Amino acid sequence: MAVKKKTVFFCQNCGYESAKWMGQCPACHEWNSFVEEPKEKAAAGSGIRRRGTASKPVLLRDVSSLENERTLVGMPEFDRVLGGGIVKGSLVLIGGDPGIGKSTILLQAAELLAAKGKKILYISGEESLAQIRMRAERLGAIPDGLFLFCETNLGDIREVIETEKPDICVVDSIQTMFNEEVASAPGSVSQVRESTNVLMMLAKGLGVSIFIVGHVTKEGAVAGPRVLEHMVDTVLYFEGDRYASYRILRAVKNRFGSTNEIGVFEMREAGLAEVPNPSEYMLSGRPEHASGSVVACTIEGTRPVLVEIQALVARTAFGVPRRTAAGCDYNRVNLLLAVLEKRCGLDMSSCDAYINIAGGIRLNEPALDLGIVLAAASSLRDIEIPESVCAFGEVGLAGEVRAVGQAENRVREAKRLGFKRVIVPRANMAGLKKIGDIEIVPVETAREAIFAAEKKL
Ligand code: TYD
Ligand code: MG
Repeated sequence: MAVKKKTVFFCQNCGYESAKWMGQCPACHEWNSFVEEPKEKAAAGSGIRRRGTASKPVLLRDVSSLENERTLVGMPEFDRVLGGGIVKGSLVLIGGDPGIGKSTILLQAAELLAAKGKKILYISGEESLAQIRMRAERLGAIPDGLFLFCETNLGDIREVIETEKPDICVVDSIQTMFNEEVASAPGSVSQVRESTNVLMMLAKGLGVSIFIVGHVTKEGAVAGPRVLEHMVDTVLYFEGDRYASYRILRAVKNRFGSTNEIGVFEMREAGLAEVPNPSEYMLSGRPEHASGSVVACTIEGTRPVLVEIQALVARTAFGVPRRTAAGCDYNRVNLLLAVLEKRCGLDMSSCDAYINIAGGIRLNEPALDLGIVLAAASSLRDIEIPESVCAFGEVGLAGEVRAVGQAENRVREAKRLGFKRVIVPRANMAGLKKIGDIEIVPVETAREAIFAAEKKL
């Protein structure tokens, strides 16, 4: 009798383990995500024992904080997203589509850190030494103290990290790493999970800060880094339109700082350049004297960012009007168009509407509502909104404009960029002082806002 091979099934989206194949994952409800993998041996000896941690409880008061052990990379945008520099012994995952610039930003950071005298180990399982050298030359001067290691075998990597004891280590990418103790192929859920586990033990045990690169792919052909998000300290996503040059680094989990913080970069010939003033960047190339365009103010992390919202509303040629939303939530746009129809008496139901946040940035803060409403109303009636008007506020189903957080920061940003009038929810006025000579117009309803925005300056 043939010995039956022991296998289990893993959801490639969330890592759920099951004894039999299932069409839909009961944990994350993803369809067709199960793959068969050999059953792991009870991983004897995998992972190293944590050193230096006491095996008995200690008083919280006596525990020393890591706060002083942060290392600044020297790229303010990157440091901010990390919560103020790299924490010693932390494990950071950088996810993103292929070709978005994950290797580039990490190599740039590695060069900066090495130039400061840190010992960096850059481990690549994707590129050869010569390729990395070529890229490094494009990015700038080659510093001392930056070591390269092209390897995919985790056993060797562990040994090198243990003997070299670098301050910071980059592993590019986790999907190429394999642990001999796990039977399945590199990139599979159990390999990715096991490799991350080993790296985590190394980070915590030796106090090495480790950056892991993880690819995100559709259809789950490679195990997505979703599985890893629970295991690491910080998860950063690098996103942006491949065809636009700017990139946004976003923290979605951070044990050492606030999440939803963003860093804005621009991809140039010589690597990523920081964009310290995202508003100016987002507003460059605005059309002049065009209807259907208005500037809205959103808060990204701790920073206000001004973006241009564009709307094109045109009579529909079909029975069912077409609606698209680029950069904002489609359902939200439909809802706001219905509010315009019902509460402001605008005939939206016979019109196609295309809403776009210029620059390709993706946002879903409710404070953008008022901008979307104003842009759509302006396009439908073909009435231009003066260029130096900006607006923010959440719009409710009754057509009311509701308060949003950090109103003062938003108005200050508008003022800084030379806007002359800002339309704000009336409920926010209590916390708003007079700020310079910018005209602050409080509104209660979307209808009021439309008139206030279109008034000539
Ligand atoms: P890369 O960091 O290799 O992406 P990832 O590691 O996320 O897969 O980035 C590759 C892209 O960046 C590639 O399309 C070319 C572009 N790029 C530049 O435009 N300028 C540069 O200086 C570098 C190094 C890359
Ligand atoms: Mg890469």
